[in-house]
Amino acid sequence: MKALVYQGPGRKALEDRPKPKITAPTDAIVRMTKTTICGTDLHILKGDVPTCEPGRILGHEGVGVIDEVGPAVTAFKAGDHVLISCVSSCGKCEYCRRQMYSHCTAGGWILGNKIDGTQAEFVRTPFADTSLYPVPKGADEEALVMLSDILPTGFECGVLNGRVQPGSTVAIVGAGPIGLAALLTAQFYSPGVIIMIDLDDNRLAVAKRFGATATINSADGKAVAAVMKLTHKTGVDTAIEAVGIPATFEMCQQIIAPGGTIANIGVHGKKADLHLEQLWDRNISITTRLVDTATIPMLFKTVAAKKIDPVQLITHHFALDDIVAAYDTFADAAKTKALKVIITA
Ligand SMILES: NC(=O)c1ccc[n+]([C@@H]2O[C@H](COP(=O)([O-])OP(=O)(O)OC[C@H]3O[C@@H](n4cnc5c(N)ncnc54)[C@H](O)[C@@H]3O)[C@@H](O)[C@H]2O)c1
Ligand SMILES: [Zn+2]
Ligand SMILES: [Zn+2]
Repeated sequence: MKALVYQGPGRKALEDRPKPKITAPTDAIVRMTKTTICGTDLHILKGDVPTCEPGRILGHEGVGVIDEVGPAVTAFKAGDHVLISCVSSCGKCEYCRRQMYSHCTAGGWILGNKIDGTQAEFVRTPFADTSLYPVPKGADEEALVMLSDILPTGFECGVLNGRVQPGSTVAIVGAGPIGLAALLTAQFYSPGVIIMIDLDDNRLAVAKRFGATATINSADGKAVAAVMKLTHKTGVDTAIEAVGIPATFEMCQQIIAPGGTIANIGVHGKKADLHLEQLWDRNISITTRLVDTATIPMLFKTVAAKKIDPVQLITHHFALDDIVAAYDTFADAAKTKALKVIITA
């Protein structure tokens, strides 16, 4: 089969690989139909993710059809149309019983990281019963690819952890696919104000179309003053960090209102300062989270009911044969205006 293989920092290629086999009774083999590329795959290619070793097939998102199941799989059978969660969960360990699937002692984020992933013609998915979801009849496959990772991430780590409320004020720093997923799902709660902050005017224009009430390009270094002006000098009730660098986490600390919540989504590789000398008396909360994908079933319903339309996040299409070009397009988003790219296997 064809598969996109990480060959070490800065190197990747479409290779011929053997079709995966069932290795545990709880496994399924899924024939991929649609997959995509995540910002995290770009982090891997930079060498930022040491758990992902050269030789690994990348990808942790996608939809497909079950080819074969192990003898212990009871919820699915060959021919079933399924969505693959980016997080594998055994369903039995203490963390899984608390719906903290991302910390599953036997699974977690392993696909396309510690085990071979979804950017291939076939993938072996461990713990199939508790890590796959049935695709409803008539559902749009490409829309559902957005439910493997980015929509649950924006919703769980940003909106739920950030306690977005009806009428409240929200700022989302970073208008990449994750920040935009937070923007779409924040609107379930009808906040009064949603301010999107980014350096890329194209992404800010997309945010406006997706329902942002105001956008700020922070390139001039004056974003904090602009947020204060928009919120009558109080700041925001929820500040969602969706970039993953010290400057944006510190910006969240400068714009948070008394009683507010800073919800960090970004993956941070460097230490960021915490200004307790300014925040100690402000009754704020700071949350962090690795996406659990526990909300996938709920998000399915919101898509079916047309409360959100994830297809809006898709900007480009490629065949698996052209996945290297898909990576180039995705990595050069400022020029190509890429958000999510769909790869058809
Ligand atoms: N917590 C989790 O479970 C989880 C899951 C998935 C992704 N992530 C992380 O979420 C973050 C966002 O992911 P993404 O795929 O949207 O990334 P992305 O790189 O596509 O988007 C980041 C956005 O931030 C903007 N930006 C960069 N520097 C900025 C600055 N100084 N001020 C304002 N905006 C700035 C960029 O223009 C870009 O639009 C990443 O750090 C990613 O690794 C976390
Ligand atoms: Zn991802
Ligand atoms: Zn578990």
